[in-house]
Amino acid sequence: MSLGRVAEIVAGKLHEIPDPSMLVAGPVIVDSRRVVPGSLFAAFRGERADGHDHAVAAVGSGAAAVLASRPVPAPAIVVDDVQAALNALTHWTARAIPAVTRIGITGSCGKTSTKDLLGQILDRLGPTVATQGSQNNEIGVPLTVLSATTATRYLVLEMGARGIGHLRHLTGMVPLDVAVVLNVGTAHAGEFGSRQATAQAKGELVEALDTDGAAVLNADDPLVAAMEARSAAPVVWYGRGSSAQVRAIDVRITGGRPRFELHTPEGRATVELPLVGEHHVSNALAAAAAAFRLGMPTGQIAEALSTAAATSGSRMQVHERPDGVTIVDDAYNANPDSMAAALQALVSMAAGRRTIGVLGDMRELGAESAGQHRAVGELAARLGVDIVVGVGAWEAAAIVAGAADGGTTAHLVDGQQAALRLLSQVVREGDVVLVKASHGAALDALARDLTAMPPTGGAVSR
Ligand SMILES: Nc1ncnc2c1ncn2[C@@H]1O[C@H](COP(=O)(O)OP(=O)(O)OP(=O)(O)O)[C@@H](O)[C@H]1O
Ligand SMILES: [Mg+2]
Repeated sequence: MSLGRVAEIVAGKLHEIPDPSMLVAGPVIVDSRRVVPGSLFAAFRGERADGHDHAVAAVGSGAAAVLASRPVPAPAIVVDDVQAALNALTHWTARAIPAVTRIGITGSCGKTSTKDLLGQILDRLGPTVATQGSQNNEIGVPLTVLSATTATRYLVLEMGARGIGHLRHLTGMVPLDVAVVLNVGTAHAGEFGSRQATAQAKGELVEALDTDGAAVLNADDPLVAAMEARSAAPVVWYGRGSSAQVRAIDVRITGGRPRFELHTPEGRATVELPLVGEHHVSNALAAAAAAFRLGMPTGQIAEALSTAAATSGSRMQVHERPDGVTIVDDAYNANPDSMAAALQALVSMAAGRRTIGVLGDMRELGAESAGQHRAVGELAARLGVDIVVGVGAWEAAAIVAGAADGGTTAHLVDGQQAALRLLSQVVREGDVVLVKASHGAALDALARDLTAMPPTGGAVSR
């Protein structure tokens, strides 16, 4: 698209742009360090930094121009409001890609995991653009859409909702052909106030569908199943029960990895998921149901699922240390549901090896937080996790208290350095160590350090 055309769509003024026919040949970027040649640099004013201060550097790195809310000493399209301009450009682009199918995925947990699976499946059918990482908000969704090209056939969008109206806003910008709702859990429950309110917000995804679209809904989650009434489009049901059109039969977990028979109305095929944790069965079924609806044969779906890679980091990522210690990095985020899923996966993949849960806080839980942290410790004890290490402040203390009351050896440490010191003494050959907390706790750094930790005296007996 030319700079002149972009300026028309966003109702902006060309500033220091001598040739409006110059093309934007790259994506839209908001971080000036990520500018690639031909991109359009959108200057946002954040709490700490102002993108306008980096306009010259962005153009120096090859940006075609800057989308700015005031004149900068560089070629720019000047608008009143950069976010509104981004929205307008996204609104236009999402409708202009000639043969694209737009799929939105929401839910309390598993959005990124499912999006990564579906992106890899659909890539076999045609050029696919999927959200990178977890960029699921009012900036991430536009950036993803604007990274598509006229050749893109499938647009797989992770869509987050932190309140009522958020998904209505996103789907108003990007019309969906397929809307996938995974679950309504306790994630961010503190922000919504209740699970009912969460369901109200997540259901906005299906309300946006036309009659010729499709809602892909989890039959195992009653709050998701109830969203059928809010969809003008027909439903494709997935789940573990026999009523679901796309379902998993004979689920077996070996070494933490699920294997099952995928059933669709068109056939059946064996799936061996390369991912750890039974909860990924549900995510895989959601992706399979969407792919089924888009006409992919069952065998091909199963094949794609069985060779999928975990593309976004710190989600049940398994690292084998040379000294026979396994580190499972699930530090990307945490809430009560995903804590439970990860602890179950830890015990199941350990298959008798000693298990250590290195657990930090779960954020955004609101009033129920203390009780929920204690419950995680109690669950770890009940599942038979051998050692629990709580990392952090009162939240970690509540986890440790719950675990200790349940009869498990439990240690409290106040930070990552202390955790590393303790673990260098406690961890020994053959252990399986799970590292998990909310994103804000940044335990992914601890998981990396643990993975790189030299074998300790106690760890290698040779
Ligand atoms: N269906 C599920 N049920 C329970 N836990 C899950 C499920 N799917 C993924 N998880 C776990 O939840 C955590 C987050 O997974 P993922 O990043 O896929 O979710 P998300 O919905 O994208 O999260 P966010 O809201 O942070 O974007 C990981 O620890 C993952 O192992
Ligand atoms: Mg995510």
